[in-house]
Amino acid sequence: MKIRVIVPLILLAFQAVFAGAIEIVSGPYIQNMTETGCDVLWRTDKPATAWVELAPDDGTHFYLSERPRIYSTDLGRAVVGTFHKVSLTGLKPGTSYRYRIFSEEVTDMQPYHVSFGGIASSKVYPMDPPCFRTVEKNKKDVEFVMINDVHGKNDVLSDLLSNVKKDKTDFVLYNGDMVDFMDSEDRLFSSFIDTSVNMFAKEIPTYVSRGNHETRGAISKDYMKYFPNSNGKPYYSFKYGPCYFVVLDGGEDKPDSDIEYSGTSFFDDYRKEEAAWLRETVESEEFCTAPYRIAVIHVPTVDAGWHGPMHARQLFEPILNNAGIDLMLCGHLHCYSYHKPDGKDRQFPVLINSNQDAVVVNADADSMKLKVLDRQGRLLHQFEYPVSHGKVN
Ligand SMILES: [Fe+2]
Repeated sequence: MKIRVIVPLILLAFQAVFAGAIEIVSGPYIQNMTETGCDVLWRTDKPATAWVELAPDDGTHFYLSERPRIYSTDLGRAVVGTFHKVSLTGLKPGTSYRYRIFSEEVTDMQPYHVSFGGIASSKVYPMDPPCFRTVEKNKKDVEFVMINDVHGKNDVLSDLLSNVKKDKTDFVLYNGDMVDFMDSEDRLFSSFIDTSVNMFAKEIPTYVSRGNHETRGAISKDYMKYFPNSNGKPYYSFKYGPCYFVVLDGGEDKPDSDIEYSGTSFFDDYRKEEAAWLRETVESEEFCTAPYRIAVIHVPTVDAGWHGPMHARQLFEPILNNAGIDLMLCGHLHCYSYHKPDGKDRQFPVLINSNQDAVVVNADADSMKLKVLDRQGRLLHQFEYPVSHGKVN
C-alpha cells in the first residue's frame, strides 16, 4: 500500500481512537459573504478554540501543503466557546476557495495556563472539502432562491431547497420566520440551519431577513451572532451582480405595548432608526447605479392592517418610492399574493410569497425574471421586469 494512502488511514484511525471527545455538532455555514471575505460558523459539543484552513480552488489536493490558518479571535485572544465564528478577510472578489474547519477542546483555562483536549475537524481526505465563492459585484447576472415562513418544517424546507443548484445559485435568501421562536440554540439549528448545511449552506451563502418570530425568545437578542452581516444590524444592504438589495426589518407586528411583549418591545423607535439608515443607503452611488433595486422585508407593508406593518409602511414606502425600487419581496402571511404598483402611494410591485413555495429570481442584462415554484417544482407564477436603471455592465 502506498504511503499516500497509509498516512491518511493512520490519521483516520487516530481520530477514531479519540472518538467521544469533542465533536462538531452543526455547520459549517457561510454568512456575511462580501467581495473580500465571509464568516464561517459552526457549533461543537464542548468549549473549544476554532480555526479555518483555507486553500485556493486550484485542483490540488488539500494535503498538498500546509494551508494558512485563520483563528477565531477577539480582543487579541483566541475565542473559547461552543459556537464558533471565523472571519475570513482579504479574499479576492468572484473567487472560489476551499476550506476546512477545526476546533480544539479547552479543558481548563487558568490565568497562566490553558489545557487542551482533542481536536475535531471536517474531513478533507475521503471527500472534497467545501468550496465557496466570494461576491462579484459586477457579475453580469445573478440567481437567488427565496424561502420564508418555514417555522421549523424541515420537510417543506428540503423540498423547496431542491431549487438550489450549486452551479447556478449565487445565494439563498431566507425572508423571515424560519423558526417559531428563538428560545434555544438547539431549536434554531434544528428548525432550518442543519437542513440548510446538509443541502447547500457549507458552500452557498445565505442572506437573512429577520421575521417577527425571530424577535421572540431568550436568544433572540443574539440574532446577529448567528447571522452576521456587514451592517451589524438585521437591516442591511448588499450588491450582487446587477441587483442591489435593501434588506429591511419590520420588527413586531402588534403595538409595542401589547401584552405578548411584556413591556420589552421598542420597535417604533427601532423602525425610525432604520428609516434614517434607509434614507442614507438609497443615496449611495452603488445603489443609484444598480440596474435592479430590490427591497426585502418579511412583514408586507401593502394592505397593512396591524400596527407594525402600518408603521413600516409610513416610514419606508416614501423612501422606497423616491429611490425607484423595482420590486419588494415579502412573506409573513403564509399565502401568495402579487400587488402591482397602485399608481399613487406605492410605485413598485410587491410579491408576498407563501410558506409552501420558493421564489427563484434571475437577473441579467436583458431583464429580471421571477418564478414562483411549489414543493414539487411546478411553476405557479412568473414575472419579468425590464432593466429600468441604466445598463448592466
Ligand atoms: Fe411573520
